[in-house]
Amino acid sequence: MKIVVATDKPFAKVAVDGIRKETEAAGYELVLLEKYGEKAKLLEAVADADAIIIRSDIIDAEVFDAARQLKIVVRAGAGVDNVDLQAATAHNVCVMNTPGQNSNAVAELAFGLMVMAVRNMYNGTSGTELKGKKLGIHAYGNVGRNVARVAKGFGMDIYAYDAFCPKEVIEADGVKAVASAEELYSTCDVVSLHIPATAETKNSINHALVGRMPKGGLLVNTARKEVIDEAGLIRLMEERPDLKYMTDIMPAANEEFASKFPGRYFSTPKKMGAQTAEANINAGIAAARQIVGFLKDGCEKFRVNKK
Ligand code: 3PG
Repeated sequence: MKIVVATDKPFAKVAVDGIRKETEAAGYELVLLEKYGEKAKLLEAVADADAIIIRSDIIDAEVFDAARQLKIVVRAGAGVDNVDLQAATAHNVCVMNTPGQNSNAVAELAFGLMVMAVRNMYNGTSGTELKGKKLGIHAYGNVGRNVARVAKGFGMDIYAYDAFCPKEVIEADGVKAVASAEELYSTCDVVSLHIPATAETKNSINHALVGRMPKGGLLVNTARKEVIDEAGLIRLMEERPDLKYMTDIMPAANEEFASKFPGRYFSTPKKMGAQTAEANINAGIAAARQIVGFLKDGCEKFRVNKK
């Protein structure tokens, strides 16, 4: 069996070593394809692969067509918006993610971005503190829960909205559950986004919604760029010089944001939320174990596509 680790944004070496140990102990061959850049190299590498471990790498119908022996793809991480799940099912390939394994890393980065924003991008001027501010967690999944845990240490007043998570689950963590996204944005000084990119959420963070935020509002995005209505947010930030936007996913209109909103807009050059040794080890080794469990025992826990 051949396992290909296809990561355009590589894991930390220690994580690759762990993945190798797991797969070789199972008697499988490991092939590493990092920083491949062009899709052609990915297509070539997967031609005789039985399993693939990926991160945000795009696995579309063309990749499934090229990977004739493929049985399983594991996205080492949470979001599976980069994988064509229908094509996977059509090709009889199982797709899994590794939920929760990189969530703490993403949550910590959300606070890194928050502190940077309220301290005026570390420009030497007097900023503000997070303590006592109202934090809105938009979607209470694995990352949202970690954000709530860290926010308690900062002494923030914590709110959350999640269309699918029961109110009781949110409130058991000492977080105030609100009934709608509108209420969350109207209430909170800082909103941290943790919604997945789906057909329903695409462009849903728009002018009307963010426009509800109180004066001095800060939007932090460690989720996906697709959920933002970029034109609407740009228009809003032009109208509201008090608003700030910090993102770990560079917008398509990065240059426009950067030139129009100096001092109140920042994007990391490359998505860094899950880019820690710990998250790479946790998600990478979980992916390797899930592949071994699937190939040896048919275990389909964490499968995300239909059969
Ligand atoms: C995820 O969905 O798990 C995160 O966005 C991390 O993505 P990455 O593996 O590309 O850093």
